[in-house]
Amino acid sequence: MPGEQSFDGRVAIVTGAGQGLGEVEALALAEAGARLVLNDLAGPSLDAVVERVRSAGGEAVARPGDVADWSTGQALVKTAVETFGGLDVLVNNAGVLRDRMIFSMSEQEWDTVVRVHLRGHFVTTRFATAWWRDRSKEAGGPVYARIVNTASEAFLLGSAGQPNYAAAKGGIVSLTLATARGCLRHGVRVNAICPRARTAMTGELMGPAPSGPDPLSPSHVAPLVVHLAGPAGALITGEVFVVHGDMVAVMGPPTVRAVFHATAGHWTATELDDALSTVFTADPPSPGFVCEETIPLAESTFGEPSRP
Ligand SMILES: NC(=O)c1ccc[n+]([C@@H]2O[C@H](COP(=O)([O-])OP(=O)(O)OC[C@H]3O[C@@H](n4cnc5c(N)ncnc54)[C@H](O)[C@@H]3O)[C@@H](O)[C@H]2O)c1
Repeated sequence: MPGEQSFDGRVAIVTGAGQGLGEVEALALAEAGARLVLNDLAGPSLDAVVERVRSAGGEAVARPGDVADWSTGQALVKTAVETFGGLDVLVNNAGVLRDRMIFSMSEQEWDTVVRVHLRGHFVTTRFATAWWRDRSKEAGGPVYARIVNTASEAFLLGSAGQPNYAAAKGGIVSLTLATARGCLRHGVRVNAICPRARTAMTGELMGPAPSGPDPLSPSHVAPLVVHLAGPAGALITGEVFVVHGDMVAVMGPPTVRAVFHATAGHWTATELDDALSTVFTADPPSPGFVCEETIPLAESTFGEPSRP
């Protein structure tokens, strides 16, 4: 397959690969020369993606299962090692939506979304990093290891109709940062992407594709996943990207906005009233710890003017 040298047979797991972003990312990794263990809930769509990879000359096996199950994470790593002799890349992508305002959300809607996204990222990461840590100890130094996690701008924005999803995606960013720090010396590079793409998940919101080239095609997201998973990803870890259309943005970390010191060494509530009221003057207040800067980055992909 074209581009084979860049991955040189490296082994990648992709979760949620039966359709949408995961399917396109899997095909792009196969085209770059990766051998794949593909996961999704059991069904014909996962098998069809495996067939697409194979008919394009690539290598892939299906390992279906609920990605949040402990046994699925274990089985994915085991399948990679037993089928292809190792593991180099983990792409955590599987996800679901159960959108509802916080005051109407059911227990089930909360649990399902947090489970599939956050626990689903944790379980696979747990087994992949354990495997890499063991290899690193054997080798006496860092090994080739990449994780690409899938967050969302919903976390940056505090998406009001998606408290479960925004919380899970925020958790995935924190998991990314903690894993990046905890596994750096073993060679593990782990980053998170916040994509936008017209898929089954977003079709209702984004509407039908235009007749010409689609700026919201998942194919605009896959090259960043290949880059982060590939050799060039060696110098990137603990970062968060926003990616869609012709645009890739590297997010900066949260910053300290204002600092106050108590005059007598400790605060009283009255003194805090005086100090903090110099900062928080808007009435009603607008949510402060959100990032709206990414909204207008590419108007062709759903961008809209930021709030004045
Ligand atoms: N499409 C977007 O604009 C967008 C924006 C931000 C983030 N994302 C994220 O990108 C990822 C992929 O989304 P998509 O748009 O391709 O959606 P999609 O619905 O097309 O694909 C998601 C896939 O995950 C699979 N899946 C669901 N639950 C699973 C489970 N428990 N175990 C294994 N597989 C499971 C589904 O079967 C499906 O194939 C998700 O994590 C989503 O939150 C998408």
